[in-house]
Amino acid sequence: MMKAVRKMPCNKTIDSSLLLLIEGYPFIQNRCKRYKTDIFQTRLLGQKVICMSGTDAAKTFYNDKHFIRKNVAAKCVQKTLFGENGVQGLDGNAHKERKEMFMSIMNYESFKTLIQYTHEQWEINAKKWTNKDIVLFDEAQLIMCQVACRWAGIPLKSYEITQRANDLGKMIDGFGSVGLRYHQGKCARKRSEKWIEEIITKIRSQKISPDKCTASYIIAWHRNESKRVLSTQIAAVELLNIIRPIVAIATYITFGALAMHKHPECRLKLRSNANDYQQMFVQEVRRFYPFTPFIGAKVRKSFVWREYYFKKGTLVLLDIYGANHSEKLWSSPNEFITERFEHWKDDHYTFIPQGGGDYDKDHRCAGELLTIEIMKESFSFLSTHLSYKVPKQNLNYPLCRIPTLPKSKFVIKRVMTIN
Ligand code: HEM
Repeated sequence: MMKAVRKMPCNKTIDSSLLLLIEGYPFIQNRCKRYKTDIFQTRLLGQKVICMSGTDAAKTFYNDKHFIRKNVAAKCVQKTLFGENGVQGLDGNAHKERKEMFMSIMNYESFKTLIQYTHEQWEINAKKWTNKDIVLFDEAQLIMCQVACRWAGIPLKSYEITQRANDLGKMIDGFGSVGLRYHQGKCARKRSEKWIEEIITKIRSQKISPDKCTASYIIAWHRNESKRVLSTQIAAVELLNIIRPIVAIATYITFGALAMHKHPECRLKLRSNANDYQQMFVQEVRRFYPFTPFIGAKVRKSFVWREYYFKKGTLVLLDIYGANHSEKLWSSPNEFITERFEHWKDDHYTFIPQGGGDYDKDHRCAGELLTIEIMKESFSFLSTHLSYKVPKQNLNYPLCRIPTLPKSKFVIKRVMTIN
């Protein structure tokens, strides 16, 4: 056995699962601060877990010599957010080959179409809001669901939109929860997989013929290492891995609207977009507001890092919320300062709201650049083509709730579109 010379800081509690539920997003950061460390050991759901935070930790975490993803996501996460047998739980060549499929969907031409669809959908839907009070999060979910399905080549009848958008939303809302929210997320996934399995079957039997460059076509006809098409179940899980997270962008849109409300000067800067301001604003929204709390992987083979011993099979959590709010990485991390991104140099491991490392090789979010483009287009629309008032409401977003959102989901009133 390898010899480690240092004892890892250790959480004294027998099991911290309840504390994780109570504290939510800052769970890892709270302990890193308490023990003056960026690594510590704890127990969650009865198993030993190592938590780590910071740029060096991320570099190690994304070294696939050290970590695997197979059987990492808890069953409750698979039954709501991810689905079973999808790209998130693959390693080595199987992951590389599946990830290539995802990355082939992400290109300049497909982004151009997506930005156009995003703009058109905001315009169409916003016209219906004239002089009404609306809940921005709910409306953004509907818009994102329509954009996602159109872009991915999935037919969506007008009477289906609300149910499909709600189901995709519930799958996201259910992942960090227990009880009713989890149950709703699980039922929503079952319904959504059944719907998308039928779409895959129809594409394969040529009852519907989406464009060859769309996600539905690419995934339905994708052949794996052994030259076979994916099972209908897996193809449905992977197509949902495209449309579900596009709907999740409604959360960032809502937080961006909150940021514009709290910092009205941002709204004006978004309109003029001098020095690529939209990019800076989007990056600061993704840094400042909480979404992904942490990411998990398991130790592939025992190793020593910074004289700490990582035993084969141990679950390791990389802190995302803490990295976004770390005083070591950001000046005034708890303030919303868009200009911090003006001369930002990316190193793939410091700013990781959607995972780190390389898009093609690692598990970094396949849709990160797409997320940024949709956010830019949405904020451009909200700041330039929409006038509204923000009534008094509860805009707090509890950090103990994963995923979180302003309590009121951001109500706006006296909405008018501006050409
Ligand atoms: C709300 C915005 C989003 C957030 C917060 C988010 C976050 C993340 C995170 C944290 C990961 C895991 C990274 C890791 O395991 O190392 C991930 C993976 C992934 N995301 Fe996203 N994501 C978002 C939007 C999207 C979009 C729009 C798409 C596709 C259209 C997408 C597709 C994926 C896929 C396919 C993976 C799995 C990658 C792999 O395992 O290799 N995501 N995302």
